[in-house]
Amino acid sequence: MSESGFPIKPVYDAGDLPGDLASKLGEPGEYPYTRGVYRTMYTARPWTMRQYAGFGTAAESNARYHQLLAAGTTGLSVAFDLPTQMGYDSDDPMVHGEVGKVGVAIDSIDDMRLLFDGIPLDRVSTSMTINAPGSVLLLLYQLVAEESRVPGAALNGTIQNDILKEYIARGTYIYPPKPSLRLVADTFAYCRKEIPKWNTISISGYHMAEAGATPVQEIAFTLANGVEYVRAALAAGLAVDDFAPRLSFFFVARTTLLEEVAKFRAARRIWARLMRVEFGAQDPKSWMLRFHTQTAGVQLTAQQPEVNLVRVAVQGLGAVLGGTQSLHTNSFDEAIALPTAKAARLALRTQQVLAYETDLTSTVDPFAGSYVVESMTDTIEAETVALMDRVFAYGSSVEAIEAGFQKREIETSAYRVAQEIDSGERVVVGVNRFTLAEEEPYEPLRVDPAIEAAQAARLSDLRQARDSAAVERALSDLRTAAAGTENVLYPMKEALRARGTVGEVCGALREVWGVYRPTDRF
Ligand code: 3HC
Repeated sequence: MSESGFPIKPVYDAGDLPGDLASKLGEPGEYPYTRGVYRTMYTARPWTMRQYAGFGTAAESNARYHQLLAAGTTGLSVAFDLPTQMGYDSDDPMVHGEVGKVGVAIDSIDDMRLLFDGIPLDRVSTSMTINAPGSVLLLLYQLVAEESRVPGAALNGTIQNDILKEYIARGTYIYPPKPSLRLVADTFAYCRKEIPKWNTISISGYHMAEAGATPVQEIAFTLANGVEYVRAALAAGLAVDDFAPRLSFFFVARTTLLEEVAKFRAARRIWARLMRVEFGAQDPKSWMLRFHTQTAGVQLTAQQPEVNLVRVAVQGLGAVLGGTQSLHTNSFDEAIALPTAKAARLALRTQQVLAYETDLTSTVDPFAGSYVVESMTDTIEAETVALMDRVFAYGSSVEAIEAGFQKREIETSAYRVAQEIDSGERVVVGVNRFTLAEEEPYEPLRVDPAIEAAQAARLSDLRQARDSAAVERALSDLRTAAAGTENVLYPMKEALRARGTVGEVCGALREVWGVYRPTDRF
């Protein structure tokens, strides 16, 4: 059985290839993009090596980014701590104990300036994993770039900004779905004018996969969310070709390599058809599903952690064979704690071996025509379309979310996998087979708990030094825009420029839009 639950045959032959293979495949760089979004793919330029990193203070994270760039990483990817992701300042009593833990703490433009100190923002592309406050962090990035005379037009990067999957699987939502979608549409419109090369959203299946989604569930729910964003932007009056070229995606790569390659190829084909046929997009860039991949953290084990190096290599290989644009390979120790500097370097080296020592970058889409992969691509495509129809039967992705549909489906799959591991039917090396009587000790990286007090002191200095009346005026303009129909990003930028904090800006929107409370139907 495959991870998605369809049978895998011991032998595939020519009879398993789809009859209309040529039109389903197309050429690389052409509709329906089964073979990849670029004609030359990695023969012209390898994928972006983009390692997700960030912890503690802005200064510590900045040092890690410089190390990563020196080690040969080709794009940055910022991890924010939970308070920042939830739109609270580091000194808010709500977030005590969480500051700087799972990512960097960013409260204001002062922190953002330190985070990117010495990094040429006109040359490095930066991804920021931030959702409900995605627009806030994007504006801080733009403000910092402007200080070093880099205009919005020169900025390259991505904000995750994918609020729908937060309701389904990840949990860092703030506002209810309706104003959240309006904020996403405002961000699309703002970027089109002010930061045209920015990828305005990273529509993510990764976290659903980590929560237990099968490959088919992962892409079906993600593409259905994609459809929801397209509809929201159209409803806000944007033209499809004005925003669709800058939509991007984010998927997992599991160790089941063949099915994963088929998944990536099927996802590209479905999205291309949706955009061209259903939404009538004319610009080929609107049809392209460009995606980032992260290797499956959930498949890494705390037992015999070095074995994770092997798992990650196989997973990374699958992502590359599937035509990813950007890749994060996990560190082998992250099932235990935050990666140490050495583990982070080894993870990057894994990508470098794939890119520079193998022959993978010499040719495009090596699996094209493979009996098994073409057959699986077709099966996954059909099953995904069927599952998307089940989502749309609720009316829309949001309505399905509100009815708990995606979450329930994912939890059922997660339960099945847990049972298979418990019974030994699913082998996890070092966990339920080939175990050691005694594990070797391992010294993990620890975050200094003093960070919280240090951030609070910085905030207190900031509040004393800034022009509070100017901040309050800007926040008041922001509330007015949020209550009306003006794009909220413009007043938001003024508030941040006046050294308003992430917590204050999100707080102003909370006052107007309220907060989301999930209805638990399980
Ligand atoms: N031929 C022609 N042009 C090519 C080419 C080729 N073969 N290869 C690349 N290029 C061009 C592209 O067209 C592009 O130029 P453009 O910007 O003018 O269009 C440029 O080179 C850069 O290439 P890509 O766009 O392919 O690669 P990027 O790395 O810039 O972008 C992306 C990739 C997927 C579109 C983007 O959205 C991205 O980088 N995403 C990263 C997302 C990410 O890192 N997320 C982390 C999540 S971690 C998380 O969620 C945390 C936790 O909870 C797990």
